[in-house]
Amino acid sequence: TPNDAFDMVLFGGTGDLVMRKLLPALYHQHRDGNLPKAGRIICLGRSAADTAAYLDKAHGLAKGYLGSDYEAKVWDEFASRIHFLRVDANNADDYKLLADTLNEEQGRSRVFYLSTAPDLFAGISENLAKVDLNKGNSRVVLEKPLGHDLDSSNEINDAVARFFTEQQIYRIDHYLGKEPVLNLIALRFANTLLEPLWRREWIRDVQITVTEQVGVETRADFYDKTGALRDMIQNHLVQLLTIVAMEPPASMDGDAVRDEKLKVLRALKPLSPEDVHTKVVRGQYRAGAINGKPVPGYQDEPGVPAGSNCETFVALKAEIQTWRWAGVPFFLRTGKRLQDRLAEIVINFRETPTSIFGRTHTPNRLVIRLQPDESVRLYLLAKEPGNQVRLRPVHLDLDFKETFKTRSPEAYERLLMDVIRGDLSLFVRRDEQRAAWRWVEPILDSWENSAEAPKPYNAGSWGPAAASALLSRDGVAWHEES
Ligand code: BG6
Repeated sequence: TPNDAFDMVLFGGTGDLVMRKLLPALYHQHRDGNLPKAGRIICLGRSAADTAAYLDKAHGLAKGYLGSDYEAKVWDEFASRIHFLRVDANNADDYKLLADTLNEEQGRSRVFYLSTAPDLFAGISENLAKVDLNKGNSRVVLEKPLGHDLDSSNEINDAVARFFTEQQIYRIDHYLGKEPVLNLIALRFANTLLEPLWRREWIRDVQITVTEQVGVETRADFYDKTGALRDMIQNHLVQLLTIVAMEPPASMDGDAVRDEKLKVLRALKPLSPEDVHTKVVRGQYRAGAINGKPVPGYQDEPGVPAGSNCETFVALKAEIQTWRWAGVPFFLRTGKRLQDRLAEIVINFRETPTSIFGRTHTPNRLVIRLQPDESVRLYLLAKEPGNQVRLRPVHLDLDFKETFKTRSPEAYERLLMDVIRGDLSLFVRRDEQRAAWRWVEPILDSWENSAEAPKPYNAGSWGPAAASALLSRDGVAWHEES
């Protein structure tokens, strides 16, 4: 319908995120016929001469990123949506060109995706407002990291809020767009089976792991100022925690879901400096091997300053002070240059109150896997066939690819479509973001004031030994089965 018509403006149009994720995501949605017919993609930047030159570059890169999903005919059709404008985000005069281009079409929703460093968000918002592009059906998408602590994120949010209302602001956290995360919501609230057990009486601990094999790659400049706590924990892992822990929302409406997530964030037990010492493990990789191939240590990566204390690994124990969760540890763990690329949420249930089988057995466990494959696995105990009663842990598997026999869209595909449709439920509200920063701030403060270096771990391992010790103090171990 004509109401769906949109124009999407990508700031940072020649950057890595646009080339690697956003254009491929829009290509897929175009190919699958989901993208409204009338819709332009307007890429902004300074490093291409014109649309032809831009498309040349984009085409070459997209071919690589799309792999076997690339089809020349579909690409050509898709590319006819793309326009490049030489716009310097910092130069207010350049925005007249943008406004003229957008005003060629009236009545469309307008999406401004700020895929730039966050210190440009305030200036871009102001420049858009100067040419009235913040009015009407305009939306602005903010990429993470939004600031580097509570104060700086408040400043950026305040600055953007001078020109856009909260209903126009889409703070993206791409982990919320991953299919298994949405499936966790379905699993919890479309079934009666789990919800009665989803509480302290039956759950012993929760583990959220996002590990990567890649190192800092070419991003040392950004990463060394950021570190794993700001890059992954404050946003992706804490967001996953809210989805696991939230109360049933009254509806799938944007604010209903976000209200429940906010309550979880506000109930996170604050960490004292002493807690940071005992419940947070900070690590940094040194040289090692990934899949048998030697790789350098973090300090030897190009662009990393000598003696850097930047953490490339964090493991921590969080607690939620509510009637549902009091006393249940939520262990979060993330890092680069680890043994496997793995993202999963593990729910460990309690042991049986007593055993008629003479000894204690592995308790039930539910594993929701986001990466590398998308699946839900439920571990149960079963009796081995035979005359003796011998129990063995077995699992029921739900593999999404096998079950639904269809491609699972990438997180950015889903989230970009939500922005076009105006659905805020999977975007982070300002109060949520503030609560998440507030919770991690004592960790940042305490590290800043500490002379202690991060704990070293070998590339290709599962991180520093202290990360295992953190769990064994609670009588558990990380789930590490691939
Ligand atoms: C990004 C981080 O937000 O998430 C990167 O900045 C990280 O450092 C990436 O590699 C991981 O995302 P995914 O979807 O590849 O697991």
